[in-house]
Amino acid sequence: MQLQGRTAIVTGAAQGIGAAVARAFADSGARVCAVDLTLERVEALADRLRAGGAEAIGIGCDVSRRDQVDAMVTATHQHFGRVDILINNAGITRPAMLHKMTEAQWDEVMAVHLKGSFNCLQAVAPGMMERRYGRIVNVTSTAGILGTIGQINYSAAKAGVVGLTMSAAKELAKYGIVVNAIAPGAATPMTETIRTDARFKEKYLERIPMGRWAEPEEIAPVFVFFASDAASYVTGQVLAADGGMTIR
Ligand SMILES: NC(=O)c1ccc[n+]([C@@H]2O[C@H](COP(=O)([O-])OP(=O)(O)OC[C@H]3O[C@@H](n4cnc5c(N)ncnc54)[C@H](O)[C@@H]3O)[C@@H](O)[C@H]2O)c1
Repeated sequence: MQLQGRTAIVTGAAQGIGAAVARAFADSGARVCAVDLTLERVEALADRLRAGGAEAIGIGCDVSRRDQVDAMVTATHQHFGRVDILINNAGITRPAMLHKMTEAQWDEVMAVHLKGSFNCLQAVAPGMMERRYGRIVNVTSTAGILGTIGQINYSAAKAGVVGLTMSAAKELAKYGIVVNAIAPGAATPMTETIRTDARFKEKYLERIPMGRWAEPEEIAPVFVFFASDAASYVTGQVLAADGGMTIR
């Protein structure tokens, strides 16, 4: 029960990695606020977590909207009294080659990944600074570390998340708040096309030294580590849980 007594906000919790992280946190003793665009989906997850004996709530919120993020963090404080852990996991992709990418595709991806992570970080930071305790985990990507083809928006946003992580880590270190990032690789709805479409499937698998995709549950324990007291002297780091894709 590494997270006993802690309260965690997990964004993008309705499916994929976020849902697995919310379940792992609940299993580790945390009180969980599951956040996603559709209230019904996170309420259903919170119901399942409560049925398993955890304390959990679901809140509908678009992380790119500052007003919604502020309301979500206020509601979490009202319900649980504090926020100890923030997982900035919500994400989208809007793939297109550079010469075909629209301004809207660029803006949407930046808004969710980069502004969304900033919004949530800035909203939870004052409470954490006051209590001199915090664990923030941002989610970056191989694309933000090595670059990629057909997703310059996503790659740039995820590289931005690394900068956000390092700067926040430096600013918040003296308050007992650690800020780290994970670059995951997992079989989720987001990766469905590259895992199943014959045009991409083999090419992507060849890029993973382990030769397979992880299930989100295999990635979740890495989030538990960064969210736990065990990470008290680890900050500003990017850890890839990607089967070796980023080995250079
Ligand atoms: N799956 C992978 O291999 C992989 C690799 C690298 C990075 N990532 C990153 O991991 C994170 C989770 O990815 P996943 O694979 O589980 O994706 P997913 O598409 O399965 O889940 C993402 C969730 O985020 C939610 N979301 C999207 N926009 C939102 C918004 N504005 N506000 C609130 N919630 C929003 C979606 O509704 C969805 O439930 C993302 O940040 C993604 O970029 C995933």
